[in-house]
Amino acid sequence: MSRSPLASGHREGLIPPAVRRAIRRKLLRWYDRNKRDLPWRRRAADPYAQWVAEIMLQQTRVETVIGYYERFIRSYPTLAALARARHGEVLKYWEGLGYYRRILHLHQAARALCEQNAVVPDTVEGLCRLPGIGEYTAAAIASIAFGRREPAVDGNVARVLARLFGVALDIRSPEGKRRLRSLAEQLIPRSRPGDFNQAWMDLGSSICTPKAPACHECPLNTNCEAFVARTVDHLPLRSSLKKVKQVRAVVGVFLNGGRMLLRRRPTGGLWSGLWEFPNAEVTDSCQEADLLQELALDCGMSLRDEPTQAALVEHRLTHRHITFFVYVASVGNRRSSTKPTFRWVTKQSMARLSISTAHRRIHSAAKSAIENAKPGHG
Ligand code: ADE
Repeated sequence: MSRSPLASGHREGLIPPAVRRAIRRKLLRWYDRNKRDLPWRRRAADPYAQWVAEIMLQQTRVETVIGYYERFIRSYPTLAALARARHGEVLKYWEGLGYYRRILHLHQAARALCEQNAVVPDTVEGLCRLPGIGEYTAAAIASIAFGRREPAVDGNVARVLARLFGVALDIRSPEGKRRLRSLAEQLIPRSRPGDFNQAWMDLGSSICTPKAPACHECPLNTNCEAFVARTVDHLPLRSSLKKVKQVRAVVGVFLNGGRMLLRRRPTGGLWSGLWEFPNAEVTDSCQEADLLQELALDCGMSLRDEPTQAALVEHRLTHRHITFFVYVASVGNRRSSTKPTFRWVTKQSMARLSISTAHRRIHSAAKSAIENAKPGHG
């Protein structure tokens, strides 16, 4: 008969000591043989490097992060180097990663720390006081860089634990989170807590995957309640995410003398500090054409010729699907260039600015309309 890993302690949610020891031993042995060779793991004792990696890894896949991490750490190898850099320059290394508030916070925190003692806090509490660092990120940094016994439970680890212990609770509910946290706290060993946390992450990404997990290769399968009870495909239980908002926006690609007008987004919020084509959200009460006229006026210009409808670009973010209606229009003056939040740019100089993936896509979708547009005059 199969034994539940919680066995006699099941009701109280206590894991028997022998089971804890067996899980730790098996998981760390598996990690030693199978761990991914990731660049930040070569600087495990460097809290700044771990911090950068963990921030990049929020909402972003490991494969995507590797190149960004390597370029970033080469340019800003220390906290002090990051603190000294201009924000516009730092942003360039983040371009395309999305969730730009992350880099704003990281840069702000680096500057604030360098004004004090230039030391990264070594506790979860201290790390959580920094902007952009929540409990998971703090626990990952504290365990990996400082060897603290802090469990880091994100969605992947929650899935593995829910299956391993047959947790039939919504993993997003307060009770589900409490249960998983308690299990993770009981399991994390005094020695190698950072490796142990990373072992969960690797197991979750290579074996205990959301769909079609490779249970037969799992080092913990004989301890896994869901595997034994054949409920792996039903766990974890998860309430549905917040609804995705559908947004429509008009984009004006205003041209003059071979240049395009870009506008800088305010600091904070979506796409913080990035350059973009002027745009405005379409609401039920306004027509696209009126909106475009208004947009031009906001930029200090008025439209002369009829704008060309150049492209329709769909862009998906986690909680928002945006449809951009892209118009190209030649305009007759460049007054707006006097405002620092606006800039007239050539195609070549665009490459040097930090621009969101959405607006790079808008630029390529409207390329032929831009090239065929009548040149405006300054
Ligand atoms: N995801 C989040 N943090 C990670 C890490 N340190 N290693 C691998 N994947 C991760």
